[in-house]
Amino acid sequence: MRYVMKGGNPLVGEVVIGGAKNAALGILAAAIMTDETVTVENLPDVRDINVLLEAIQEVGAVVERVNKHTVKINARSIGSVTVNNEYIKRIRASYYLLGALLGKYRRASVALPGGCNIGSRPIDQHLKGFRALGATTVVEYGMVNAEASRLTGGHVYLDVVSVGATINIMLAASLAEGSTIIENAAKEPHVVDVANMLNSMGANIKGAGTDVIRIAGVPKLHGTEYSIIPDQIEAGTYMVAAAITKGDVTVRNVIPKHLEAITSKLMEMGCEVSEFDDAIRVVAKTRMNHTKVKTLPYPGFPTDMQPQISVALALATGTSIVTESIFENRFKYMDELARMGANVKVEGNIAVIDGVTRFTGAEVCAPDLRAGAALVLAGLAADGCSVVEDVEYIMRGYERFVEKLQELGAEIRLAETDKDVQKFRLSMIS
Ligand code: UD1
Repeated sequence: MRYVMKGGNPLVGEVVIGGAKNAALGILAAAIMTDETVTVENLPDVRDINVLLEAIQEVGAVVERVNKHTVKINARSIGSVTVNNEYIKRIRASYYLLGALLGKYRRASVALPGGCNIGSRPIDQHLKGFRALGATTVVEYGMVNAEASRLTGGHVYLDVVSVGATINIMLAASLAEGSTIIENAAKEPHVVDVANMLNSMGANIKGAGTDVIRIAGVPKLHGTEYSIIPDQIEAGTYMVAAAITKGDVTVRNVIPKHLEAITSKLMEMGCEVSEFDDAIRVVAKTRMNHTKVKTLPYPGFPTDMQPQISVALALATGTSIVTESIFENRFKYMDELARMGANVKVEGNIAVIDGVTRFTGAEVCAPDLRAGAALVLAGLAADGCSVVEDVEYIMRGYERFVEKLQELGAEIRLAETDKDVQKFRLSMIS
């Protein structure tokens, strides 16, 4: 599937941000760690979430979709600790089922995770954490197996700051005997959100949001009702969309504190950014200025916003330098952007971007979720029509992406066939 768009319209208006996908993935896994019913609200209706819900159902939990954004999960009837369906390999967060099942049943077997192709994505730190809790871990035939006759608290020092490993160890350790300390833990808002959700189920986790997390294991978790925090990356994407199209967009239902790294970069680049209690307005009137961006773990600039900000810098004045320090393979979209007229040179994990005054519409392919969204933003700023192919990636993480952009004034459609693309092009000429 592809999106077809005609660039040039400044995006103007308000957009409501959904729940954080990456928090939701950890929270849904946590939900199966009790036999009581868990209600999760503000769930984003995106593919990654729906795939994880299917996997949860497949192991035997009862999943009731109350509405698009609310789900009730009861995991009393889980009959299997093996997760290996066709789809689960495509999402990265399948690994959270390892921590959740290991914690609850002391055994788990999950197909090795896939997800976006943005570089080598080992899970050694997850496994190191499980081993510190007394589990044995074996990777064979494409499956990760973890097992513990006794799951006991342990001391884990993460060699790299990993969101996934931090959450996964937190999940398992919540139901271990004794205390666990995770040092060099990730501090992302979604780590804090998963910890808050587990605490609302009776877990005892302290220090989430700092680099040392202490977990006192409890024998049992209970049901809860929990509402997921807003998605900082979805919000950031619309903020940059405003900047790129010289628009005026207010993103609503956000936590401005979580967006500080993005806000300050956009201000440095010359945008007007105003913060409200639960909203941020971005106004861009003139061409943006060049700057330097380096991706870092939170509270640094998020790697999941690197492609979007790079697209904005490709239209800014002067030369910008973008350093990707989390995933080595995250500049693959630059070749596609060059097809739209961007002037970019990539050397290893550094992109040197010489700003151009305009992009021209082209046919490009989305290489992954965030880069796909970034290429759409480029298309919305380009002269003429663009086509972004393989938008299934984008659907993994953005709810109603096309509709939300249309509501802000973008000319964009989902096109199933080449004929749809032709129709769109013709409608733009007439
Ligand atoms: C999560 C997010 C992803 C985001 C990333 C960084 C989810 C589902 N995905 O991915 O969108 O881009 O955080 O903010 O929440 N590493 C290891 N060994 C490990 C684990 C990670 O070496 O066991 C390395 C990775 O290769 C990477 C770095 O640590 O270089 C950070 O990865 P991590 O924070 O774990 O990313 P994910 O949790 O996979």
